[in-house]
Amino acid sequence: MTHESKPSMGDFKGKSVVVTGDSLGMGRACVERFASGGAHVLCVAIDEASTREVAQSFGEPVRGFCGDVRRATDMQCAMIEAATAFGGVDIRATAWSWIRRRTSGTTSSTSISRDCFSRQIRRAGDHAPDNITINAVGPALVDTPMLRSSADLFKRIGAVEQILDSWGRSHPIGRIGQPSEITEAVAFLAGEKARFTTGAELKVDGGLMAKIGVVLPE
Ligand SMILES: NC(=O)c1ccc[n+]([C@@H]2O[C@H](COP(=O)([O-])OP(=O)(O)OC[C@H]3O[C@@H](n4cnc5c(N)ncnc54)[C@H](O)[C@@H]3O)[C@@H](O)[C@H]2O)c1
Repeated sequence: MTHESKPSMGDFKGKSVVVTGDSLGMGRACVERFASGGAHVLCVAIDEASTREVAQSFGEPVRGFCGDVRRATDMQCAMIEAATAFGGVDIRATAWSWIRRRTSGTTSSTSISRDCFSRQIRRAGDHAPDNITINAVGPALVDTPMLRSSADLFKRIGAVEQILDSWGRSHPIGRIGQPSEITEAVAFLAGEKARFTTGAELKVDGGLMAKIGVVLPE
């Protein structure tokens, strides 16, 4: 059985999106999701070669930009590049927080840290009057190159697939997630159907947090 789902085509037609940290894993899946929904996407990743590769593999609606999410100036340049190329920025997605802007323009930079994520969510109320929504998706373990390299560290215990299977069994749903399952949640929060949703964290974790009831520190 496959856990992949087909995106609804055209739901981001004419939108302009900036995705950061996206040459691999969940970020790359976001680029694919927004582009297949009809958006123009600027993908921002830290190394030049993989940035170029992503832009080439998705073709015309996707442009690559080499930048580091930890550097505010890189992010400002990325937003300016997207605004210039696409005529504005409607949606910004990073690995930890997902920002949506209804009117064209640029948003301030974010990083992928949990601390920054919490601060962005707290700012949701400040930006709501401008019709900017700020939401987050909280994944559990997701099958990405990063997770596979972590599993590879345990190769003395078993093959990567076996380790991933055993980690998956710790999730009530019995498996790890697929990037497309995360990006569907991102697409919902960034889309028209979530226009009244802001300051929310949507856990897409196979029931993990419901099972262990952990509250992360601020
Ligand atoms: N995979 C998981 O199970 C999982 C679960 C929860 C949270 N996360 C977090 O989600 C994020 C993405 O995870 P992933 O598994 O998709 O990772 P990944 O390693 O598969 O991909 C990360 C991408 O981010 C880019 N990147 C890394 N540092 C960057 C920087 N400073 N500036 C710009 N781009 C940068 C890399 O080039 C790569 O394209 C990470 O912050 C990770 O800690 C992952």
